[in-house]
Amino acid sequence: MRTAVCPGSFDPVTNGHLDVFGRAAAMYDEVTVAVLSNSTKSALFTIDERIALLREAVAPWANIKVATFQGLLVEFCQKNEIGVIVKGLRAVSDFDYELQMAQMNYRLAKVETAFIATNPEYGYLSSSLIKEISRNGGDVSGLVPDNVLQALGERHNGGKS
Ligand code: PNS
Repeated sequence: MRTAVCPGSFDPVTNGHLDVFGRAAAMYDEVTVAVLSNSTKSALFTIDERIALLREAVAPWANIKVATFQGLLVEFCQKNEIGVIVKGLRAVSDFDYELQMAQMNYRLAKVETAFIATNPEYGYLSSSLIKEISRNGGDVSGLVPDNVLQALGERHNGGKS
């Protein structure tokens, strides 16, 4: 079975992430979306909230599941017999760090990384920008799934998105 992981913080998941998940799901038998749970970044949504939002958002794909991990991604891959890490590349600015991680993950455990060129429609999207815009009352509809839009609205402006 060809298996892949899409790792990240997903605080929150965006339509750019979903585009990458869906395209990975077309190439691999099973895709695990893995949420890093020991990140030092301060988060808007708890791990459980992020997982719940992700599970709803990936429900249309039968071969995508959601999990959480701590520690090294390659150890999660080894434990779960996942051979490939799939990442979306938005712009050249993503490339340096992503290349470094891909090379380190291969060096650590021979786990390969495959890059998907992000749909230009979502090339400028990031979870951080979504949070900043939403926090300041901006409209992020069309950029995140509906359940995330609702959750952001509830968190930032009492239910209005
Ligand atoms: O959404 P993010 O925060 O950009 O995702 C980064 C993530 C989770 C993919 C990366 O930080 C990661 O893989 N962390 C796990 C720890 C690890 O394996 N570090 C070594 C990377 S070479």
